[in-house]
Amino acid sequence: MKLTQAQFEKFSILVKERLGIHLNESKREMVQSKVFKLLTKEGLTCPDEYYKILIKDRSTLWSTFVDEITIHKTNFFREDNHFNFIKEKLDFILKNNPEILKNSEIKVWSSACSTGDEAYTIAMVLKEYIPPGINIKILATDVSSLVIQEAQEAEYLLDQGDLINPYFLNKYFKKFDNIYKVSDTIKSLVTFRTFNLMEPFPFKNKFDIIFCRNVMIYFDFPTQEELIKKFYNTLATGGLLFIGHSESLTQKQYKFDYIQPTIYMRKD
Ligand SMILES: C[S@@+](CC[C@H](N)C(=O)[O-])C[C@H]1O[C@@H](n2cnc3c(N)ncnc32)[C@H](O)[C@@H]1O
Repeated sequence: MKLTQAQFEKFSILVKERLGIHLNESKREMVQSKVFKLLTKEGLTCPDEYYKILIKDRSTLWSTFVDEITIHKTNFFREDNHFNFIKEKLDFILKNNPEILKNSEIKVWSSACSTGDEAYTIAMVLKEYIPPGINIKILATDVSSLVIQEAQEAEYLLDQGDLINPYFLNKYFKKFDNIYKVSDTIKSLVTFRTFNLMEPFPFKNKFDIIFCRNVMIYFDFPTQEELIKKFYNTLATGGLLFIGHSESLTQKQYKFDYIQPTIYMRKD
């Protein structure tokens, strides 16, 4: 079963409009197999029929489509330079953003959190290294409600990509058979929500650190620029933006100061 060129384009445009994700020709096979899998599940036979329902739907059917079309690869301590930066440059972070100490609170946003590994890693690192008395508040969001549900369950089958050292593993996880459960202390620091980065940001308070890692790679250049502008406006002065290793702000810095590869600061 194959999608025609016109059908593939219709699905690509819908995904781009609603999620910002740019599906080029190289994604055709993936889109095709997911579309046919999903429409069969709905008891349908024709991609056009499925598409028609999808464009009118913003609830269950659309949500299942989003869960399927998005890529959720993640790990604990993935791209660990960001976590080392928090540990090693804490004085720099607190000096450039004195509001953290003044308010006795650090607010962090894991903005495409997938199954929560990134958010829980942030929680463990902050719990370990931030001075006592500073309240840790982490918001973790993703457009896929399936991964948000998994993140809230906080139970993991770890693999070789999860670079959790034994100290953290013993302190912040409980093992049941081959499943690792995140401790309640760490869970209590993170709030999970479904949120689409293409929507206007609804936040009243500014964040001190925003993680936006390994999602901008799926967006085209104008979408990335728009998003970076929104991140800038929702960061505190002296706040930091952490992006993925294969991402860069070079042409689209929007007033950010470069600190080191994949780390940028809002200065004004
Ligand atoms: C590859 S994972 C990255 C997870 C984590 N940040 C990391 O680096 O390990 C990309 C995540 O971005 C999410 N995503 C894709 N488009 C999104 C959008 N428009 N708004 C919010 N999340 C989105 C996907 O659902 C997926 O969970």
